[in-house]
Amino acid sequence: MNPFKYGKIVSGEFFYNRKNELIRIKDTLSGGNNLVLYAPRRYGKSSLVHKALNELERKGFKTIYLDFMSVYSREVFIRNYSKLIAENDKTSIELTVKKIGKLIRGIVPSLSFDNLGNPSFSFSWIDGSEKVDTLEDIINLPEKLSNSKNKWIIAFDEFQEITKLNGDSFEKLLRTYIQNHKNVTYLFLGSRTHLLKDMFSNKSRAFYNSAMLMNLDVISPDESIKYIKSRFAQDKIKISEEVASYLIDKVDSIPYYIQFIAAEIWQQVINNKVKITNNHVDEATATIIELKSDYYWELTNKQTSYRKKVLVALSNSSTEMFSKGIAKKFDLGASSSTQKAINSFIEDGIIEHFNGQYKFSDPFYKMFILEKL
Ligand SMILES: Nc1ncnc2c1ncn2[C@@H]1O[C@H](COP(=O)(O)OP(=O)(O)OP(=O)(O)O)[C@@H](O)[C@H]1O
Ligand SMILES: [Mg+2]
Repeated sequence: MNPFKYGKIVSGEFFYNRKNELIRIKDTLSGGNNLVLYAPRRYGKSSLVHKALNELERKGFKTIYLDFMSVYSREVFIRNYSKLIAENDKTSIELTVKKIGKLIRGIVPSLSFDNLGNPSFSFSWIDGSEKVDTLEDIINLPEKLSNSKNKWIIAFDEFQEITKLNGDSFEKLLRTYIQNHKNVTYLFLGSRTHLLKDMFSNKSRAFYNSAMLMNLDVISPDESIKYIKSRFAQDKIKISEEVASYLIDKVDSIPYYIQFIAAEIWQQVINNKVKITNNHVDEATATIIELKSDYYWELTNKQTSYRKKVLVALSNSSTEMFSKGIAKKFDLGASSSTQKAINSFIEDGIIEHFNGQYKFSDPFYKMFILEKL
């Protein structure tokens, strides 16, 4: 089996490092302070948070993880969140459902069992009831079910998506209620860093100053080199530190893409077990770009010709986009037009503005632009 895994959440032997970040997250949450964790796409936020929650569970906390990516209305929030809360502890589910019946206005909860005896929570709406009452009760439910000896920790992933739900009123409601929660601590995380940061550091926003901010960086190259070497070594495949380092640089150290390219190389070499060289890294890169090229062309051809020029400039420079030299070299117009183009890339998730640099979210797309445009 391929020792490198990419896609969604990784755990067990597929997860490495993040020791300090893990301690920081666990200490903050178990100490009762809310936390915001932000990083660009595919840096490993969700995996890290799953690991932290698992370890906190073992320490006696109840934990809930809700992803706002799939929440497209208040009703869906109520449905998904109440289900997670009700089914959190299967051994006491009947009691919890009874409590939910008493505590939540506007719904009639029910419990069903499949042929294996697994319980499943659902509810029906009471006609004519006020959804906003139900929402208030659901938001307060964790506080009602917890106590000082039985604390809860709740993680909201891709939390910035909450703004899609009826403007900012949901955001305000949530903030109003959870600020009174004594036995529940919240972790907010997300990948649209500018949106998430704005929610917590802009004075006019409901969540202003309500949680500690923590930014997640890439995994240190030294740790990634060690991990890559040891994973290949399990299959008796050799890779030097220099080649591993070349691989990591190629994908700007982004955890997802490290695994992606290593998985591709593993497939190339598993049958003949040769020593891995920079050539293997280049070949794997070419294969990946080829596989994704239809999508990349589509993405590129949607852009105006000015935006294409800005993309080319960005693929060559990440810091001096507004200098005269860059404007001349890439035939760019006024800085304001360039800034507008960059903002649209950030909005679309093509470019990240992080630690003062413009970076392609997908390093393979950057290589594609460098090669083809
Ligand atoms: N600590 C880690 N150890 C090994 N691989 C990791 C680690 N963190 C992230 N990865 C790699 O990155 C991929 C994406 O991880 P994850 O989904 O946790 O990131 P994310 O920041 O939540 O991404 P997204 O922005 O897409 O939500 C994983 O499938 C894995 O390949
Ligand atoms: Mg995620």
